[in-house]
Amino acid sequence: MDRIIVYGGNKLTGEVNVSGAKNAILPILAATVVGGNESTIFNVPNLRDVEVMEKILLSLGCKIKRVDNIMWVDSKPLDQVKIPDELAREMRSSIILMGAMLSRCGEVIISYPGGCEIGPRPIDMHLKALKDLGAEIEESHGFIHCKANELKGTEIQLDYPSVGATENIILAAVKAQGTTIIRNAAREPEIVDLQNYLTKAGARISGAGTSVIIVEGVNEFEKDVTHYTMPDRIVAGTYMIASAITQGEIILKNIITDHLQAVIAKLKEAGCLIYSDENSLKIIGPERINSIEMVQTLPYPGFPTDMQAQIMALLSIANGISIISETVFENRFKHVEELIRMGANIKTFGKVAIVKGVKELTGAKTTAKDLRGGASLVLAGLAAKGKTEIENVYHIKRGYEDFHKILKGLGANIELVE
Ligand code: EPZ
Repeated sequence: MDRIIVYGGNKLTGEVNVSGAKNAILPILAATVVGGNESTIFNVPNLRDVEVMEKILLSLGCKIKRVDNIMWVDSKPLDQVKIPDELAREMRSSIILMGAMLSRCGEVIISYPGGCEIGPRPIDMHLKALKDLGAEIEESHGFIHCKANELKGTEIQLDYPSVGATENIILAAVKAQGTTIIRNAAREPEIVDLQNYLTKAGARISGAGTSVIIVEGVNEFEKDVTHYTMPDRIVAGTYMIASAITQGEIILKNIITDHLQAVIAKLKEAGCLIYSDENSLKIIGPERINSIEMVQTLPYPGFPTDMQAQIMALLSIANGISIISETVFENRFKHVEELIRMGANIKTFGKVAIVKGVKELTGAKTTAKDLRGGASLVLAGLAAKGKTEIENVYHIKRGYEDFHKILKGLGANIELVE
């Protein structure tokens, strides 16, 4: 199994061109099946999760070509309604294919997504909303069989601003009869990117990025689309912390700085110097990290849960005590025990972690338990004294393109051992 080995102590300096957003391209690839059109998508990141979604689309009958970060999808030949079980279980977010497939062919069979590393992650809000739109849903033997002779627009009040549920509803509503209003919708920027893609294909959507999204169902939805995927704000935030934790000086390019305001605010609180314009920023890490009284993860525009593990690694060597409250997921502290192996002083009480900064972490053998937790262990290794090994690197490859190569290019003493 692949391992990353890093020897800590090097300051990271240099430039990073941030890749396209995993959490934007995944729903957009689901959206390519709705219209039976041809899509040319630029800035597609080279990630395992994108490969899984590609395999699913190919298994449904779509044609796909890929050259570097450009992907071409022709969904006209789609002729299957069953999502391959092993692929659906490998990636929970395949669940957003339900809405897209119902819009395209009125039927989809998909295995119940495995609980994942960060909690049970139910899909009750997805299923309730699809039923409200007229789908009949049968769950048996671990499979979900959705059928809809006709999808009808309706008003949906989400109990929680779920990103995936918001995306599934939009994808099911774009060709429904009538108008759908989603209230308490998720406001993540990736949903705006999805709206931009769908609008180019002929959909009539407004409000993405706000709590109220309105989708007017259309019949015609066959326009070919060219789309440039938005930059990955979590990858950007992760490299910001790589600079902060090594007293480095890193410039990020091809970002949308506005998407990073919550992360920028916390890293300034931690003592970083940050200079930015609309699409780039420079971050300089301080000699000593200030502790942060409270980091609370929240739906966008709050501090992103996908940055919680990474900022915990940083605060592990801060000057004082920081509190981290994980309000989004049930079980997203799997990285804590691994950071403790590296000498961190962290105590968890349910979904709250008390991080007492130590002067220095020490390298250790560690194991990635999930995507962002794995990234946080690499970040901790960059600052730790001595050698850190991170196993189960496949988690990290799900969301980071060339992670170790880019860090090596910034001056890290890091290797990937196949
Ligand atoms: C998306 O997951 C992202 N994934 C996650 O990124 C991200 O952490 C999350 O949004 C929150 O921002 C993709 O976009 C592919 P949710 P999603 O539905 O849609 C509960 C990463 O590291 N919930 O907003 O699954 C759920 O259990 C990944 O890139 C229900 O209870 O997130 C969770 O506690 C990790 N019932 C909370 O809501 C439902 O029907 C937020 O989940 C749906 C969700």
